[in-house]
Amino acid sequence: MATTTAQTFKNFIGGEWVDAVSGETFESTSPATGETIGVFPRSGAEDVDRAVDVAKAAFADWRLVPAPKRGEILFALARLLEQEKPALTELMTHEMGKVKAEAGGDVQEAIDITYYMAGEGRRLFGHTTPSELRDKWNMSVRQPIGVVGAITPWNFPVAIPSWKLIPALVCGNTVVLKPATDTPALAERFVELLAEAGIPSGVVNIVHGGGGTVGERLVRHPDVRVITLTGSRETGVEVLKAAADTLTHVHLELGGKNAIIVLDDADLELAVDGILWSAFGTSGQRCTAASRVIVQKGAYAELQSRLVARVEKLRLGPGWEDDTDIGPVINRTALEKIHSYTEIGKDEGAKLLTGGEVAGDGELGKGFFYRPTVFADVDPQMRIAQEEIFGPTTALIPVGDLDEAIRVSNGIKYGLSSSIFTRDVNAAFRAMRDLEAGITYVNAGTIGAEVHLPFGGTKDTGNGHREAGQAALDVFTEWKSIYVDYSGRLQRAQIDTEEHPAP
Ligand code: UN1
Repeated sequence: MATTTAQTFKNFIGGEWVDAVSGETFESTSPATGETIGVFPRSGAEDVDRAVDVAKAAFADWRLVPAPKRGEILFALARLLEQEKPALTELMTHEMGKVKAEAGGDVQEAIDITYYMAGEGRRLFGHTTPSELRDKWNMSVRQPIGVVGAITPWNFPVAIPSWKLIPALVCGNTVVLKPATDTPALAERFVELLAEAGIPSGVVNIVHGGGGTVGERLVRHPDVRVITLTGSRETGVEVLKAAADTLTHVHLELGGKNAIIVLDDADLELAVDGILWSAFGTSGQRCTAASRVIVQKGAYAELQSRLVARVEKLRLGPGWEDDTDIGPVINRTALEKIHSYTEIGKDEGAKLLTGGEVAGDGELGKGFFYRPTVFADVDPQMRIAQEEIFGPTTALIPVGDLDEAIRVSNGIKYGLSSSIFTRDVNAAFRAMRDLEAGITYVNAGTIGAEVHLPFGGTKDTGNGHREAGQAALDVFTEWKSIYVDYSGRLQRAQIDTEEHPAP
């Protein structure tokens, strides 16, 4: 590829666009065609250290900017994102590969969270509560924490950086962003827009480079007070261990092995719509993707044949073409991993109904395309039913009744999203109560989170935090409890009472 003509991008540190200190670079390429998207700084620890230093210095003032003013800058960003939505969408179809409608949705999520969180600038509510003593005032307020290190994945290249940066900023923190090396141009555009919206120098910084260098330094840096990561379970565990020495707060959003339950009484056509969208949208590369479908025996045969018929009509192609249903997967490593799971499934004795191969014919051969894949007669303990594949592969698991369906749905280490298709309100409420997941959908697939509700999962999907919604504020603030005694006397909590007042 003619890298000489490709656009060159830089780090953004302290309000300036700069190369890596080492001068080294890497390329971002399109997973659909291999075309070069741009050349980026391959940064090292020294670049991270500079970014953290300026972010720490900027925090001294940013924390004192009134939150409604911080919100105004974010409202300006939301308007810029709206203007830039078509361009960002187009770039996303090239750099990340997702289809146009989904790329637009990704940018829309960023617009939504930005408006929502900008409004928080005029809320950020704390509590006031009575004191147990006379002439004393009690309240608790949210305070910003300091420098936030945000490590973001490639599958939602604009939405996920926004879920992390926007709440961090409205709360008064400063940020160093390390975006995925597969989608750096999109992250960079997002940061450029933040700068254009008027974010002060040093408040937002971006340092491009790998997890082993940039990510590692960010996590271990003593002045980074919060790490927020969306990534794999393995990376999450490493980050948590690395952050232990500095007692850095860690917010983790990790994997999923989400299931859709289809009961005998379900609207099967609706269920098939939900499965197609949740299993094959974004080529299955969502942590909320439905990579298991748990089907009650009475509906099993019919669902299988309807699903396969629909899957075989899906058209693979570059995301920017209007009639594409499924774009490429992100890179060669992903393609190989996805195919290795097809081999694993076959070896385990699951029945391959459709797909199961790389799509390399014609133009598709230039990119990383995998045929949408459905396995049937899958045992819940098989590896294809337990491990996150992160590709367009789903596994049909037959079950006898609702109790078994819930047991199977819960029988994995993750707990992100879950879903049930049924017309039985009692079954729906049981599922809402008993599915061990951070998200449950009734009569909808496993994807489609909205930004004003908490997003995240139970068990190995995370470490108890949530992003988006009001819950995100808990990641990016600490509570301070404030007691104001206006009695003029020394009053002792728990000791002085109405019967035995202070002397
Ligand atoms: C992710 O895959 O990490 O509900 C996030 C959804 C999207 C977010 C997915 N709104 O699938």
